[in-house]
Amino acid sequence: MARMSLEEKIGQMCQFVGFNYLSQSSAEMSAEEVLNSDSDARYEDLQVKDIAQMVVDGKIGSFLHVLSAEEANQLQSLAQKSRLKIPLLIGIDAIHGNAMVTGTTVYPSPITMAASFSNELAYRIARETALEMRATGSHWAFSPNVDVLRDPRWGRVGETFGEDPFLVGSLGKSMIEGYQMEDFTGSDKVIACAKHLVAGSEPSNGLNVSEMDVSDRTLREIFMKPFKTAVDAGVFTLMAAHNEVNGIPAHMHKEIMTDIVREEYGFKGFYVSDWLDIERLELLHNVAADFKEAVLLSVDAGIDMHMHGPHFLEAVQALVTSGDLPEARVDAACAKILEAKFRLGLFEQPFVEIDAVEDRIFTEAHRATALEAARQSIILLENDGLLPLTKSSKKRILVTGPNANTHTQLGDWVMNQPSDKVITVFEGMQALAPKMGYDVDLHAFNPRAALIEDADIEQAVQAVHGYDYIVLAVGDNSLRYQWKERTAGENLARSDINLVGRQLDLVQALHRTGVPLVLVYLSGKPLAEPWIAENLSAVIAAGEPGSMGGQAIAEIIMGEVNPSGKTPLTTPRSVGQLRMVYNHKPSQYAKQYAFGATTPLYPFGYGLSYSDFEYSDLEIGKVELEESDAIRLSVKIENKTAIEGTEIVQVYFRDQVSSVTRPVKELVAYRRVDLAGNETETVHFEIPVERLAFYDLKMQRCVEPGAFEFMVGASSDDSDLIRKSIHLDKRYDF
Ligand code: BGC
Repeated sequence: MARMSLEEKIGQMCQFVGFNYLSQSSAEMSAEEVLNSDSDARYEDLQVKDIAQMVVDGKIGSFLHVLSAEEANQLQSLAQKSRLKIPLLIGIDAIHGNAMVTGTTVYPSPITMAASFSNELAYRIARETALEMRATGSHWAFSPNVDVLRDPRWGRVGETFGEDPFLVGSLGKSMIEGYQMEDFTGSDKVIACAKHLVAGSEPSNGLNVSEMDVSDRTLREIFMKPFKTAVDAGVFTLMAAHNEVNGIPAHMHKEIMTDIVREEYGFKGFYVSDWLDIERLELLHNVAADFKEAVLLSVDAGIDMHMHGPHFLEAVQALVTSGDLPEARVDAACAKILEAKFRLGLFEQPFVEIDAVEDRIFTEAHRATALEAARQSIILLENDGLLPLTKSSKKRILVTGPNANTHTQLGDWVMNQPSDKVITVFEGMQALAPKMGYDVDLHAFNPRAALIEDADIEQAVQAVHGYDYIVLAVGDNSLRYQWKERTAGENLARSDINLVGRQLDLVQALHRTGVPLVLVYLSGKPLAEPWIAENLSAVIAAGEPGSMGGQAIAEIIMGEVNPSGKTPLTTPRSVGQLRMVYNHKPSQYAKQYAFGATTPLYPFGYGLSYSDFEYSDLEIGKVELEESDAIRLSVKIENKTAIEGTEIVQVYFRDQVSSVTRPVKELVAYRRVDLAGNETETVHFEIPVERLAFYDLKMQRCVEPGAFEFMVGASSDDSDLIRKSIHLDKRYDF
């Protein structure tokens, strides 16, 4: 750094969008559209050649949306022409695989992955994603998203790990470990980015970016909790949120970014702004008179890198020169960004081997992980004995529905993938069911769920004639390369949470034919459809299961795989029930709605299996450990059937008397347990007392003495849980 000019140091803090992405973005967009878009980019008065020159001049330290290895190398060779030859740090939204790059492995989306309750899978997915990223020239995953999802109207549900802060934090931590592998030193690792700080996942009206007004207590106990876990796991970057928090836009929230996360939690990495959010301090939030003031507010509050575009460098330079911003602030930001580049080995080798790319992406091992992840994540919601389909002599299955043979199963943050690298529901059924004696056909259905017409429904009803079973795939589309056709995803919030368009009419019409129907939801959202829950014999929530999704769905339908996923968020019966979460306060349901049910359609942690598990013999005790104490808990689980299966054992607790109100239950541990037919196993948990902590009357984080009830079972629903209490006789402060 001693060799760098002020301008070069600020240059490291500047990020731009990759050239190809830029040229594909709409050239006709108005300045206002550019500002309001979170996907397309355009730089007024700057052409690609000008940006290239800025790299050579050392004025750009980072790029995002570089979607091919060739382009990554091209950019790095420009950086090699700069005075100090500092390589570029290339970031990408690789949130469930390096899926913005064509030809890569697309793993189940985060909300889907979360249903597996598998930290091990999250780790493996992140590890393999890191390898595919390095193969194509990226070094920085804008992942994990550790937003705690508290409103399913939000378009971004699929990007999250659901509603529970402990589950979100644990899966986020595993992904960070998989990406960074401790201190990310080495050429096969990437840096992670926990986002979005903070609380944008319970927007006041469900709409992305809308304001968040939240008490300090909820902020810390719900929304900040996974960020603390991420910092403890060594996450090297954090991204600020689009939204304001209690009147202060997150991008200038010094108390959150600096006082709490850097000072109190001990964050050692750097902050990146979200897409054009520094600009929005002036242009949306009206808290800055001009861009320069916006830059001052955000950099002073903690932002180290600007996503994305021109004028940031000049603004910071002017602010340092005028004495408004200390040069030390620039030094601190630059030092962290350079540290990442050094550790990632970019000074030794900024380029990737183009010839090796094909061998390093969508590998056999990565496909196997994607398949295993889909198998473990798919949730069986309803089954009155229709599933699995048993061996048949010449029975006929018709596969149809808007999502039966499309790539919508891939989810958001994915670019167009070759069709030979995606197994759709139809293709999965077609590959597997004939081996078991079934004929499988497709009735191609209108893929635009929002635009289903009478004729589409009538044709489907005609088509099922003569078939013994229907597999019907409905749900959402969050593919960003079909921006205008999406029904979910970033900036696609809804004022409802049921099936889009006339999909329910389609389901009902096919149900009326009397042909047994297996319904498959392909959606990153919980869908509030009580009629389906009450009337259909078999319902599968497959989420957005990724490249291999169709195979995993077929294996579950045909009984090759026993389903084991559990819902990582509560499914309400209607949008009017929101906010509906399992870890609510005691008074939340003191009263009932005048008309209609007050209970959810499916509780958090719910999911069926072809096996039947029984819990018994819950034992609990306290152990004193060197650092702090822990609760030891064991429970017996019996597989009451002859079918091998996996149960996700969930442990919740409740503080029976506390100085301020606390949730009726909170998840503190979980484990996937594989059981052979009729096998019984005793499962042991050791739960650090710290996991029971909360903020007391004085906002001190502690565990108060008294009784704690522990609940263990198959879901968060009371009827699924067995209980035992333990008394803690002292107060713990953290
Ligand atoms: C999203 C971020 C993402 C960024 C870069 C923003 O619109 O909020 O999550 O990382 O774009 O693509």
